[in-house]
Amino acid sequence: MTAPEADITLSAHDAPEFAPAQFVRWFREVAPYVHAFRGKTFVVAFGGELVRDGALNALIQDLSLLSSLGVKLVLVHGSRPQVNEQLKLKGYDQQFGSGTEPTSAEALECAKEAAGEIRLDIEASFSQGLPNTPMSHAHIRVISGNFVTARPVGVIDGVDYLHTGAVRKMDIDAIKSVINQSAIVLLSPLGFSPTGDAFNLAMEDLATSAAVALRAEKLIFLTPDNTVHNADGSVDTELAREDADRLLSDGSLDEETSRFLSYASLAVKRGVARAHLVPYPLDGSVLLEIFTHDGVGTMVVEDTLDDLRPATMDDVGAIVQLIEPLEADGTLVPRGRGVIERDVEKFTVLEHDGVIYGCVALIPYLDEGMAEMACLIVHPEWQSTGEGEILLRHTEARARAAGARRLFVLTTRTSHWFMKRGFVRGGIADLPRERQAHYNHSRNSLIFIKKL
Ligand SMILES: CC(C)(COP(=O)(O)OP(=O)(O)OC[C@H]1O[C@@H](n2cnc3c(N)ncnc32)[C@H](O)[C@@H]1OP(=O)(O)O)[C@@H](O)C(=O)NCCC(=O)NCCS
Repeated sequence: MTAPEADITLSAHDAPEFAPAQFVRWFREVAPYVHAFRGKTFVVAFGGELVRDGALNALIQDLSLLSSLGVKLVLVHGSRPQVNEQLKLKGYDQQFGSGTEPTSAEALECAKEAAGEIRLDIEASFSQGLPNTPMSHAHIRVISGNFVTARPVGVIDGVDYLHTGAVRKMDIDAIKSVINQSAIVLLSPLGFSPTGDAFNLAMEDLATSAAVALRAEKLIFLTPDNTVHNADGSVDTELAREDADRLLSDGSLDEETSRFLSYASLAVKRGVARAHLVPYPLDGSVLLEIFTHDGVGTMVVEDTLDDLRPATMDDVGAIVQLIEPLEADGTLVPRGRGVIERDVEKFTVLEHDGVIYGCVALIPYLDEGMAEMACLIVHPEWQSTGEGEILLRHTEARARAAGARRLFVLTTRTSHWFMKRGFVRGGIADLPRERQAHYNHSRNSLIFIKKL
């Protein structure tokens, strides 16, 4: 007897782990990101390795979703493994590594063939529309063309790079007119010179040039697994550009990660709001990176403001001035100048043109894997422009780097601000033991905790 054919179209309700409340909460949590990114331009770039490893289809489905949500997409693909395969098939010795190398006439032909093949695979993937798949009703158009003018890399240190090129300029008006019509622009790693020659481009150079020229909100590199890690092995989810440059110059990263990170840093330096290194082997990693608070990859930002710096003894007077009105109205617990002087190294301040306009303190309780954020203040004249958020993110990063796994605050009037930023209500018993002993019952502060 043959078993009846299984119905593979599981609805969400059939999935054993389906929890309606969780689904609704998750959907609502995503809403702010959807609002924030509608109409913004993302450049998404990946090497031919992603295609070789069979991750293209899943990525295209996720990108279709982004496009449907109003994100303007420019897609950049590489083709290194496919070019190498073509070279091998045709009996040539040359194989491309990860750096910039000369491209012979034969290799250029292989690059054209590989680019054509990948382009067709991508176009085919975007054309899917079977019912009960994420692509149903998607109707996504993909446009590629001669958007990129290239120049030869030329002769470097006596070596002629032949048909290897670099981006000279891009037809940004044409690209914008395509993405403004909700179509996706697809760029292959080839550019053309005014003499009518084709040049082999590095995918990373092409993607970075496109993101900079478009002043993209995001440049996302999908990498085999090249993210930056903290000392404990966890992914460093947010890196100031300066820190990225420091890592690049101290030589602690492997070659591939360095390459991606240096382009990410360059993009941010030249005005791209954020550049991400996201591992493609993780299914849905693009969605996780974009729609969750911490993401799953490494995001490079043009710092968290130059205005942020550790406090010194000279700042004590200014910190006291910031705190005093809030102590007077009961928002903050009175501390007194002496306590601030004693704890000054725990403070970070926001300074602009010599004016201290914000501060925060981090008090570690590392025996219990926790840290307290205290004295979070932004001067009223500077409030509501994101400075509070910057202080919070900085404090989270400091706490994480110190080894804390949870950050807590005690507050009487700012609970909603913290809740909106991922803190959840806790009890006195959740505090480190030493802190429980000093909990001021008459103030009855609310306790909020965030997992780092
Ligand atoms: C809390 C504080 C640091 C936020 O600083 P900020 O620079 O204004 O923060 P951001 O710009 O990142 O966020 C502003 C948003 O938070 C909201 N917000 C400010 N104070 C809030 C509060 N007490 N409760 C809820 N939301 C609040 C603002 O309305 C604004 O919302 P919007 O973006 O929808 O307009 C600042 O309001 C402050 O110094 N408050 C007094 C001190 C204090 O309460 N500190 C916390 C106790 S430790």
